Amino acid sequence: MSITITGAGGFLGQRVTKLLAGRGEELVLADLVPPPNPPEGATVLKGNLAETLPKAITKDTTAVIHLAAVVSAGAEADFGHGYDVNLTGLRSVLERCRNLATRPKFLFTSSLAVFGAVDRVDDTTATMPQSSYGTQKALGELLVNDYSRKGFIDGRTLRLPTVVIRPGKPNAAASSFASGILREPLAGEESICPVSPDLALWIASPASVTQALIHALDLGEDALAPWRVLNVPGITVTVREMVEALGKAGGDTSLVKFQHDPAIDAIVGSWPALFETPRALALGFPPADDLDTLIQSHINGL
Ligand SMILES: NC(=O)c1ccc[n+]([C@@H]2O[C@H](COP(=O)([O-])OP(=O)(O)OC[C@H]3O[C@@H](n4cnc5c(N)ncnc54)[C@H](O)[C@@H]3O)[C@@H](O)[C@H]2O)c1
Repeated sequence: MSITITGAGGFLGQRVTKLLAGRGEELVLADLVPPPNPPEGATVLKGNLAETLPKAITKDTTAVIHLAAVVSAGAEADFGHGYDVNLTGLRSVLERCRNLATRPKFLFTSSLAVFGAVDRVDDTTATMPQSSYGTQKALGELLVNDYSRKGFIDGRTLRLPTVVIRPGKPNAAASSFASGILREPLAGEESICPVSPDLALWIASPASVTQALIHALDLGEDALAPWRVLNVPGITVTVREMVEALGKAGGDTSLVKFQHDPAIDAIVGSWPALFETPRALALGFPPADDLDTLIQSHINGL
């Protein structure tokens, strides 16, 4: 009886691994880049999921947390690779579950990028993605729902806010700056902000999002049926408010330099920032950390 985490070497994968290992779960960790410090006893599968899949998901797998993905700007820059990993890759994982006929829990992470530029999002807002990444995630939501409807998996899809502050180096997410404008100045380094200070974002701390993922995994059987997609609680902040909060936390706000990047602005500007998440809250998902707590937990973790 084990839980498989794809993309386990990534940002969220490492956090989810730590929490699940802490409660004694048997884990199978699959990633192109293996996790740096896998917990004792975990099975680590290094390589492309297309090749490791038969070992990654077996008759013993009770749950799959599918995090392996090409993130937003990466999927926009390399159209073929984005579809290969985010759509064909997901479909292969779902097919593996279907062929095993064991109906594992299946946790999939979607994104606010599935929405177009709408003013406000609630649990019934239609998806109108304006990027390849958003399109791939919207298609993934439908696949997870349909494989669940047919009884091949017990699916639960979470649309995650942008996770801030992501530690380490900037990544290929179009929203990478949202972490950078806090993380770099807190480390005494300059950070380039490619969007206007007025841009509003829907964000959540790593701790809030990791808790939401674990909560979704622990929900009872078919808890989200028949529509298994959920907007996760987050907070709405403008870039200006983030920079002000940086100053309040002791960061040097003059290290944030504004240099407009039309490509990034086009992607991130197409994402909505105002969300209502009554369904998630009713299902016991915790409200997201506020901005000051989010920054403080990053500082404490340094
Ligand atoms: N972090 C965020 O702000 C955010 C927001 C919304 C949704 N999400 C989604 O959550 C999931 C995890 O995000 P993250 O921030 O941890 O991403 P990440 O880029 O840190 O991790 C993804 C991991 O997937 C692995 N991977 C990619 N292709 C693979 C393949 N073919 N075979 C095996 N492994 C492969 C990568 O090596 C990487 O370690 C992704 O699906 C992402 O789209 C993240």
